[in-house]
Order: sequence, then structure tokens, then C-alpha cells
Amino acid sequence: MPPYLQLGSIPPKRHTRHATDPGYLNEGLYYEEVISTQGFHRAYSIAYHLRPPTRVLKVEPAASVIVEAAPQAMLRHHHLKTRSIPTHGNPITGRVPMFTNADVTISRCRPDAAQAELFRNATADEVLFVHHSSGSLYTHFGKLAFRQFDYVVIPRCTTYRLEFDAGVQPDLLVVESKGNLGFPTRYLNADGQFRLGAPLCERDLHGPTELVPVDLEGETTVVIKDGSRQTRYTLAHHPFDAVGWDGMVYPFTFNADDFEPITGTIHQPPPIHQTFESAGGFVICTFTPRMLDTHPNAVKIPYAHSNVESDELLYYVRGKFGSRRGVEESSFTLHPHGIPHGPHPGTIAASWDMTRTDELAVMVDTFRPLQLTKQALEFDDTSYPMSWKD
Ligand SMILES: [Fe+2]
Repeated sequence: MPPYLQLGSIPPKRHTRHATDPGYLNEGLYYEEVISTQGFHRAYSIAYHLRPPTRVLKVEPAASVIVEAAPQAMLRHHHLKTRSIPTHGNPITGRVPMFTNADVTISRCRPDAAQAELFRNATADEVLFVHHSSGSLYTHFGKLAFRQFDYVVIPRCTTYRLEFDAGVQPDLLVVESKGNLGFPTRYLNADGQFRLGAPLCERDLHGPTELVPVDLEGETTVVIKDGSRQTRYTLAHHPFDAVGWDGMVYPFTFNADDFEPITGTIHQPPPIHQTFESAGGFVICTFTPRMLDTHPNAVKIPYAHSNVESDELLYYVRGKFGSRRGVEESSFTLHPHGIPHGPHPGTIAASWDMTRTDELAVMVDTFRPLQLTKQALEFDDTSYPMSWKD
């Protein structure tokens, strides 16, 4: 989780009256809401609202969102080019699921409309990787600005609205994590601080910076998603009415270019790129520009390997990828369990004189097999498994 943060006005002691005059219904206080994770056992935040956060006028079903895995007759490598995926919908409705399993769903999203209703994912932490565009995330924690190559991490049960700046077509990679998303525990010392030598630290994480409570009595709808089911709640007031909060549960950004690469004299294994992990299900890694290996006989691109008990999904963001031919910006490659993969022919020799790489890529490594969705099939290059032959 990100470090403790406080924004706005809070009382000196938790669970005590945060006085205001006259307050909602002349009750003389702001209304406390505890936002906790894993029951009450893990990180939490405490917010203070103008009105009770429980004032519901109406509950009704909304359209369900079913992610359909495509039946696959063969175990094989996949390459999908998604740069030109059609623009569609808004930042919520425009998500096109591409890969899924019980732990994670990975979607592409190139919206062509503004977000119509507030949204809340009740059963997954979301990571929005901003491939193109910039903008702001609005929640009751305040305004959080984001920019290109940011991971925007939105804890489950955060009601939000995304707004993009004009001028650039928004382009997102969306990762929904069923397990709690956090940082690798090996990056943290016993005091909970990022270790010296970890590839990121507290200064690289950015939480909301502006808290302007919305004081608006009147119907406001929120679409709540829990799995495939969606429910529309009509609230009696706007929920972004917090005057203050503190804690360790809040949306934050981490920019991929702030990931500090670890290099060696010989090739370092993929875990050095690890950025996030989801309890038991998968990890997210960031491949950033870096110096290549310096041993005079170093093979500077990854060795062929069998990824036993994991599926490797790479999303290519920027730059030239030394070990791959044919990939382009917004390509996915999926190298599943059970079959080896490695550098394409000619790429080892081509790397001898290279001293650095400018690649930027996001990898999602899952421990359970990853399925392609029906939507993904139309982007799948069926000749890719044979692309190593010469
Ligand atoms: Fe690999």
C-alpha cells in the first residue's frame, strides 16, 4: 500500500466528534466513514463527510458485464496488435476485455466519450496504465492528476470519475485484480518503508492533492460492479463530499519512467522488474530504459526459457524491443506455461554492440493460465508460434 497520507480536516482522535456548525440536520458534526481492507485487518483510511455516506434513494439492476473466455483448442504463443483497436464508449463502458482468469482481467480501452456516471468496482482493485493522454481522477479522496505512463491504482470500493485532458486520444491498459494489490514485500523493510535499493520508493507515489468537497443535495447515480453484475445506486446527495481523510487506502499514481532499473554485468531475471503483486494471483513488472549488461561476453537480451507454472503477458508501450521481431506499440505477446520462448533469430547477434535499451513495456505474469477472450481473437496472429524458425 502507499504510505500514510492526510488531506483536509480531521479530528485529533479517531472515532470522536468532528464538529461543525450547524452540520447536516443540525447534528453538528461531519460523518465518519472507515474504508478498510481484508475486513478490518489490513490498511484503512478514515474519511469525514458533509452527509452520511449511506443515504440511498433507489437500487436497481444495471447492465451486466460478462467476460467470455474463448475456447482454445491448442496451447500456443500469441501475438495481438491492438494499436488500432476502435475507439468506443467511455472510460468504463469502452473497456474491451482481452485476457482473463480467476485472478485478473486485462482490457484495452480507447474511449470516445466522457464518463457518464460515477463508477465503483466492488470486487477488484484496478490499475489503469495510461498509454496515451492525461487527466484527473475524482474521488471522495480528492483530485488526483495523472499523466502518460502513469499506473493509476484505484482501490476496490472507491467511487470515481475519470476525466481526460483534451487533445490526445485516451488509450489505457486496464488491469482488474481480484486479490489485494500491493508492492512486493521484499521491497519493504521491517518498518514498512521501501528499502534502500528497491526500484521505487515513497517519493515516486503520488496521492490526491486537492480536496474540495462537493456540497450537492440531489440525486446522484453510481454504478457498482461486483464481478459481472452491475447495480445502479441512486444516492440522495453527491458522494464526493469529504472534508478530510487520512490513512493508507487511497488512489495513487506511479509513473513507469520513475521505476529505477536494476542492471548487472550479465542478464538479470524478470523479477528485478517487478512493480506490483496481487495476493496469490499475478505480478506486474515494468521494463524501463536501462543500461545493457557490461560483461564483455554478455548475451544482452533474454535467454530462452520455460516459464513453468506461469503465463507471461507483455504489453509493449514504447521503443524498440531487442528480443522480438514484428512487435509494435500496443502489441501483446502471451507466452504461456508449458512451452519455451526466447529471442527471435538474429536478435542476439544484433545486440552485441548495443549499450542500452529504450524499451518500455508492462508485463503481467499470472500463476494460473490466462485465457484469451472472444474479443481478443480478432487481433490474434496465428502464425506467431512459428516466428522463431529462422
Ligand atoms: Fe519470458
